[in-house]
Amino acid sequence: MNTTLITGASSGIGEAFAHRLAARGHNLLLVARTEEKLIALCNELGRSANIRAQFVAMDIAEKGAPRQLFEEAIKRDLQIDFLVNNAGFGSMGDFAKLDLDRELGMIDLNVRALVELTYRFLQPMRERKSGAIVNVASTAGFQGVPFMATYAATKAFVLSFSEALWEENRPHGIKVMALCPGVTQTGFFEASQMDRPPARLVQTPEEVVDTALRAIKRGKSSVICGWANFLAVEAERVVPRNFILRAMGSVLRKHNRKREMGDGG
Ligand SMILES: NC(=O)c1ccc[n+]([C@@H]2O[C@H](COP(=O)([O-])OP(=O)(O)OC[C@H]3O[C@@H](n4cnc5c(N)ncnc54)[C@H](OP(=O)(O)O)[C@@H]3O)[C@@H](O)[C@H]2O)c1
Repeated sequence: MNTTLITGASSGIGEAFAHRLAARGHNLLLVARTEEKLIALCNELGRSANIRAQFVAMDIAEKGAPRQLFEEAIKRDLQIDFLVNNAGFGSMGDFAKLDLDRELGMIDLNVRALVELTYRFLQPMRERKSGAIVNVASTAGFQGVPFMATYAATKAFVLSFSEALWEENRPHGIKVMALCPGVTQTGFFEASQMDRPPARLVQTPEEVVDTALRAIKRGKSSVICGWANFLAVEAERVVPRNFILRAMGSVLRKHNRKREMGDGG
């Protein structure tokens, strides 16, 4: 059965992908850790759209989990022709003072699991000469972000990795795209113990997903969500990198000091 696999589907951008794709008739395999949310979402989608929605509740950052998920899809006789690598989280603070295990866990989820899932599900797509993969990066991936150092670096990896795979897989009939949202109204900041950064534009997860679906249809290698985010990223390209780092650092250092003193605002 042709199916779309979405990681991090229990909330935010992943859940919006599930709703939008169900409405377009995609059968879904939804993945996240929280089983109750996945059950409720599958029931809702099964009722509202004429599709089959299934789930696997698992922590995909655990070693061996991506392979297990791949094997589970085969066991269920699902042909994954669209993969959305969306699950991810972040952290905020002075890197030297952050919890090392959490930082490494972030790399395991945002990078390691994404690479392994891409690798495994790409193989059958290559055999069929068709398929699509959307990897959720971020506007944070276009430059270093002081006080979000590891998170921004994971998203730089996702952006670079996806762009390279876009070109490698074009002759094989497979679309690969990095989706780069800016600040989006989801549970991300709470889950990541981050404060919402100051932003001129805050988008809804539905707006982000609509941008993604338009861009993947057009065969883009990456897409930045929202005009204000696009202009900010483009403007950064013509400004010396150290200038951007210092400017962000001066805002986020003050913010971080307040956080450390227990006053998040
Ligand atoms: N929100 C923003 O402003 C923003 C901006 C740019 C990029 N992004 C990126 O967008 C993606 C989605 O984030 P979101 O904003 O939608 O945040 P969210 O609402 O916190 O959603 C994160 C999703 O990932 C799942 N997840 C977390 N850890 C997991 C794990 N170890 N294994 C499996 N699933 C896991 C969560 O479900 P469970 O907790 O049930 O596992 C949830 O479904 C992330 O990659 C994030 O970096 C977000």
